[in-house]
Amino acid sequence: QSFGTHVTGAGGAKDQRRSDNEAEDTLTNRQGHPITDNQNIRTVGNRGPSTLENYHFIEKISHFDRERVPERVVHARGAGAHGYFEAYGTVGDEPIAKYTRAKLFQEKGKRTPVFVRFSSVIHGGHSPETLRDPRGFAVKFYTEDGNWDLVGNNLKIFFIRDAMKFPDLVHAFKPDPVTNIQDGERIFDFVSQTPEATHMVTFLFSPWGIPANYRQMQGSGVNTYKWVNEQGEGVLVKYHWEPKQGIKNLTQSEAEKIQGMNFNHATQDLYEAIEKGDYPEWELFVQIMSDDEHPELDFDPLDDTKLWYKDKFPWLPVGKMVLNKNPENYFAEVEQVAFGTGVLVDGLDFSDDKMLQGRTFSYSDTQRYRVGANYLQLPINAPKKHVATNQRDGQMAYFVDRGPNPHVNYEPSLMNGLKEATRAGKEHTPHVSGEVKREAIDRPNNFGQVGETYRRFSAWERDELIHNLVSTLSSCRKEIQEQMIKNFTQADPEYGQRVKEGLEKMSKEGSKGPMGTTDSEKAVHQAEDYGHP
Ligand code: HEM
Repeated sequence: QSFGTHVTGAGGAKDQRRSDNEAEDTLTNRQGHPITDNQNIRTVGNRGPSTLENYHFIEKISHFDRERVPERVVHARGAGAHGYFEAYGTVGDEPIAKYTRAKLFQEKGKRTPVFVRFSSVIHGGHSPETLRDPRGFAVKFYTEDGNWDLVGNNLKIFFIRDAMKFPDLVHAFKPDPVTNIQDGERIFDFVSQTPEATHMVTFLFSPWGIPANYRQMQGSGVNTYKWVNEQGEGVLVKYHWEPKQGIKNLTQSEAEKIQGMNFNHATQDLYEAIEKGDYPEWELFVQIMSDDEHPELDFDPLDDTKLWYKDKFPWLPVGKMVLNKNPENYFAEVEQVAFGTGVLVDGLDFSDDKMLQGRTFSYSDTQRYRVGANYLQLPINAPKKHVATNQRDGQMAYFVDRGPNPHVNYEPSLMNGLKEATRAGKEHTPHVSGEVKREAIDRPNNFGQVGETYRRFSAWERDELIHNLVSTLSSCRKEIQEQMIKNFTQADPEYGQRVKEGLEKMSKEGSKGPMGTTDSEKAVHQAEDYGHP
């Protein structure tokens, strides 16, 4: 399917609009009028004022004036590619049908087309790709049962476990509303009062916070989902993508060197690899838990600040993904693509993970604003299968996805309208009861896994973590530093001690920049010296 030329995909329609004596490369306006002068606006005399009935000029400029749509409120900077997912038909050693009836997974070798968008989170659409930031890893599967979106990140956990806190988290990490500068003090002001964020911050300030590029990073669904089988039985699942290219992260100073030369390096790396036929691949794994509270664990399986350790919950392979085609038009595909956690197919389900439930409202809500009410009619978002609804009209409605009788845009009807589909398998009907209330979960255990993560890092990763934390925390007021040291100490006394010592040393030397800068500061001073006679 072409996204670059004609959206109906019917090349013939374009040809019909061309009059007989017009060549294919003749410039026209959107009304189909041939343009004979695209260089000069119409003026009174050679040097006089311009005229208002300058139709071609006004169309050209006013369309240009509307070229930008709102960028994503988070994950604005991204790169995308097309490819396919190939199922293994099994989950580990077992037939996958035991756990899910989702059609895309059932048959060994079955291919489903995909579109993937990788991204960084905090800064705008053209920000450097070297920043310390989680990376988005969103996959749209165009399955025979409609679309499935797996909207993940490179890291396997998240900062918070309740959707209520997401706007505050993002505001703290975004630039200051007064100065428009990202500020480590605002970030750690929020993080120090949000103990569940300590685990994610430990990954973020380690080299895992700057993946070297998009091809050499993992992906993870982060939130807990469910799989449902033919009998309507559910299990909890987590999804992970493992790159065949290996995993590579950058130290702060490596990232600074790259950023000094090229701030599009990750997009370029992905685009060029695909152009030269070096197609990146990821294997998809799942971790499975029975669908209950798991009182034997010291955390809640619905808490997205926790890892499910591999030794207890092995990674089971279910398929692989290959990216083999670059977008033809960045805007039509990468910018307008719309992913959401609510976009599931039969055999896949939500869990009661409070973040997942909040996210599921947020994505399509923002996309109706960002792209428009009919965003699902755009080729990149439309399923590659039969669509028939009674939804009508709205801005930029491009076609009517109607049933057999154009007069019937409601249901039920005896006049040849659309009818409900028959259910594929038994419905999954979990039983839930309880008081309706606002309450934090029972097993927060905010620090146990943080200490484990700190100890599992290799020595150079720990050194880098401490260095990056200290250089950012050094610009924070004392109360924030002290609270962070307390939190790190609860995770592992050595972790807290090293940050404390680092800050004591740093306070004698003076504080540094907003998000972990290193040697480049010295470089800047040298450059200033050279600049003066
Ligand atoms: C993008 C909301 C948590 C991964 C977005 C967008 C919103 C949003 C509004 C912009 C979407 C668009 O304009 O198309 C939220 C909320 C969250 C949350 C409310 C928590 C309650 C997460 C988590 C992950 C994640 C935990 C990781 C698993 C992504 C990705 C994108 C994104 C990858 C970019 C999708 C793309 O490439 O178009 N999120 N998010 N988000 N979010 Fe979240």
